[in-house]
Amino acid sequence: MAKLSFLFCILALHRILLVPSSCSGHLRQPETPVPFFIFGDSILDPGNNNYINTTTQHQANFWPYGETFFEYSTGRCSDGRLISDFIAKYAKLPMIPPYLQPGVQFNYGANFASAGAGALVETYQGEVIDLKTQLKYFEEMETSLRHKLGDAETKKFLSRAVYLFSIGNNDYMSPFSTVSSMQETSQKELVGRVIGNLTAVIKEIHDRGGRKFAFLNMGPLGCLPGMRALAPGRKGGCLKDASHLAKLHNAAFSQLLLKLESQLDGFKYSNINLYSYISQIMEHPTNYGFKEGITACCGSGPFRGIYSCGGRRGVKRYELCDKVSEYVWWDSFHPSERVYQLIAEQMWNGNPNVVEPYSLKSLFEWVEV
Ligand SMILES: *[C@@H]1O[C@H](CO)[C@@H](O)[C@H](O)[C@H]1NC(C)=O
Ligand SMILES: *[C@@H]1O[C@H](CO)[C@@H](O)[C@H](O)[C@H]1NC(C)=O
Repeated sequence: MAKLSFLFCILALHRILLVPSSCSGHLRQPETPVPFFIFGDSILDPGNNNYINTTTQHQANFWPYGETFFEYSTGRCSDGRLISDFIAKYAKLPMIPPYLQPGVQFNYGANFASAGAGALVETYQGEVIDLKTQLKYFEEMETSLRHKLGDAETKKFLSRAVYLFSIGNNDYMSPFSTVSSMQETSQKELVGRVIGNLTAVIKEIHDRGGRKFAFLNMGPLGCLPGMRALAPGRKGGCLKDASHLAKLHNAAFSQLLLKLESQLDGFKYSNINLYSYISQIMEHPTNYGFKEGITACCGSGPFRGIYSCGGRRGVKRYELCDKVSEYVWWDSFHPSERVYQLIAEQMWNGNPNVVEPYSLKSLFEWVEV
């Protein structure tokens, strides 16, 4: 009798489970979210630097940062959202909060990025969370996940995830605060060290189960308003050597990715060619709905290239444009939210000439069998 009622119970349960609750007539598995991990610099930092001992040079937790979307400053170096916020939205994830935010959960991933950070420890050393330290935080998170989920589930979680990087900008731009040109041999040596350190981090994450990687390569770094302001003559030209470093990096990095794809088990990647994409927007702003492609919306001095937006970084006086939606550049070193959105759209499912070989959408949808 006990056996029979047990069986009945199972049948009843079965019926409940099989009765479609929607009109579509078939059951769907609840979708498992794909975790999203983010590493890098101010392009992707949602406010980690609010929680470290640093200077306002590497912070953006004051007005008018955030004015377009959040109505308060979150620490993002943007008038609104970042590329990673848009990608999270397209992937149907909530915004991934700063890893250092107290009480943060890792159910959907984590964001370790830090404004001012580089792949090299010596880039703004002591003022930022360098890439190696970001990796250390990732490993601490992994340890806490193992306690919660166990080893096998943690590995699965990390393998399912997408890992996004923006790193190198600060390694390549910071030397120009003291010099205006750099020898070709020093340039090659610097690129070698940046790529060497970045490679080590990619391999470490791969060892821990990571398979799906996405990268923002270097934009035309010498053409940022803050770099144009440093260019000799200040006639509006780009700081050539900084842009040249970006090109050297991008060429070497593309080679590296091909090598990693053949060396690392299951390694898949998406690389957006920011150099050509941002150059196009900057050179033909009206084609993309902007009016101004050279001068920033917020800052002071030539091209508003003096990094003073908000008046909290030493220089108190600054100008703020009326309509940031007309500007390609928000402040001396960062594109506006609308440009971030255009970039995120390209990364998600864009032109194969801009993003290759996989789109972010296909990385998020990819399931290992
Ligand atoms: C923060 O950094 C400043 C300057 O480097 C240093 O003098 C101070 O002791 C640091 N504070 C903490 C709490 O680490
Ligand atoms: C990483 O950066 C450090 C500091 O610049 C450098 O000494 C080291 O050679 C780099 N490592 C690699 C593998 O390139």
